Amino acid sequence: TRVPVICIDGPSGAGKGTISQRLSTQLHWHLLDSGALYRVVGHACTLAGAAWDDVPAVTAIARNLDVAFSSTEAGVAVALSGEDVTDAIRSEFGGQGASAVAVIPEVREALLARQREFARAPGLIADGRDMGSVVFPDAPLKIFLTASAEARAERRQVQLMQRGESVSLPRLLGAIQERDARDSNRDASPLVPADDATTIDSTRLSIDAVLSRVLNEAASRG
Ligand code: C5P
Repeated sequence: TRVPVICIDGPSGAGKGTISQRLSTQLHWHLLDSGALYRVVGHACTLAGAAWDDVPAVTAIARNLDVAFSSTEAGVAVALSGEDVTDAIRSEFGGQGASAVAVIPEVREALLARQREFARAPGLIADGRDMGSVVFPDAPLKIFLTASAEARAERRQVQLMQRGESVSLPRLLGAIQERDARDSNRDASPLVPADDATTIDSTRLSIDAVLSRVLNEAASRG
């Protein structure tokens, strides 16, 4: 029998990470943070001195990536070649690197099998951009979680402030709009809702409200 997968796709700052973590905890299902994989590739490039647009170098790095995810009390920890990079990949720079390497089709291809390995019993919550459209096309529940760019910029600012990074709101809004445009307009797996996705706009919804909508959808599909 096939392992059930709930896909949570959408732009950055829509609340995918929080919702996915809560779902995974509540349902005791595995969690795939696919953005972290792209972030690790970008980070590995920086460490290796490879430019994010150097296709052969970035592709080789993605193919040979020695990455490990482990759950801790604080969430999922990420290690690259045995070194903890959980914090390092979460920076604004880490997001830029991820978005830059994610436009390379060979990189996406290299990460495909790795992502599918996360689908193990009793189920998987898959957080990303193309979980429902490309990686898990047969998933029984696909959520496209979105929010206004302004709301996402404000949430991102709070997150960065908690990390001790201060970035002005207009700059964050600009960066979010730029990243949206790049993610939506790239040829390889652009950020678009899967045909059979349910869209939830979280601009005016609390985390709990979004969570209960997703759980209702899941229940109604058995
Ligand atoms: O979700 P997160 O902000 O960590 O993702 C960072 C970047 O990685 C995104 O802006 C996007 O460009 C890329 N990404 C992707 N496909 C995914 C997950 C992330 O292209 N499934």
